[in-house]
Amino acid sequence: MKILVETERLILRELEYTDENDLFEMDSDPEVHLYIENNPVKSIDEISKVIEIIKGQYKENGMARWAVVDKLTNEFIGWSGLKYFNQPLNNHHHFYELGFRFKKKHWGKGFATDSSTAILDYGFANLNVDKIFAITNPENVNSKKVLSKLGFNFQETFDYEGVPTDWFELKKTTWENKKPNR
Ligand SMILES: CC(C)(COP(=O)(O)OP(=O)(O)OC[C@H]1O[C@@H](n2cnc3c(N)ncnc32)[C@H](O)[C@@H]1OP(=O)(O)O)[C@@H](O)C(=O)NCCC(=O)NCCS
Repeated sequence: MKILVETERLILRELEYTDENDLFEMDSDPEVHLYIENNPVKSIDEISKVIEIIKGQYKENGMARWAVVDKLTNEFIGWSGLKYFNQPLNNHHHFYELGFRFKKKHWGKGFATDSSTAILDYGFANLNVDKIFAITNPENVNSKKVLSKLGFNFQETFDYEGVPTDWFELKKTTWENKKPNR
């Protein structure tokens, strides 16, 4: 098991096939999927395929979504991480996008912000990028609050496959200098 980063409360490590049941618990929950295509998973097979894709991304890009584990309980509580886009999106090419997703029972504890802080530290230190981006449904208030706490700035609403989607960016200089409220 590859541990990548630790925070006071969390371990961030690569996703494993043994995370299947926890991922299924999270991704079969309609509330978790409300603002992300609104299409919760129906079978564990779908989850196995997702893990396979993410493991491929670790190999190809050296980075992808990471499992977040609560140190107190050793439970897989969600994931957070940087996905590399090699296809253009909203006129951007070859960029990293921050994403996060947690089991509903672990919302409201600061875990998305904590884990993303560690990931952004890691990303700006290791990935040779001067900006990291994020996208979210405009109605996803919880997600937008996390992005704002991290220091992301709203740029515009764009059309993502027919769905209005908010585009955010975080400059490396902002991350290093502004000391966001984290
Ligand atoms: C988006 C998502 C990850 C946000 O999770 P979250 O738990 O609300 O975000 P945080 O980790 O920042 O926690 C923030 C809350 O924890 C509270 N909190 C409690 N203890 C805390 C602590 N020790 N440290 C920091 N915050 C703490 C904060 O006060 C804050 O509450 P508030 O939102 O009422 O102000 C979550 O809603 C989710 O998984 N949604 C489904 C998937 C999704 O939509 N992902 C985003 C797609 S773009």
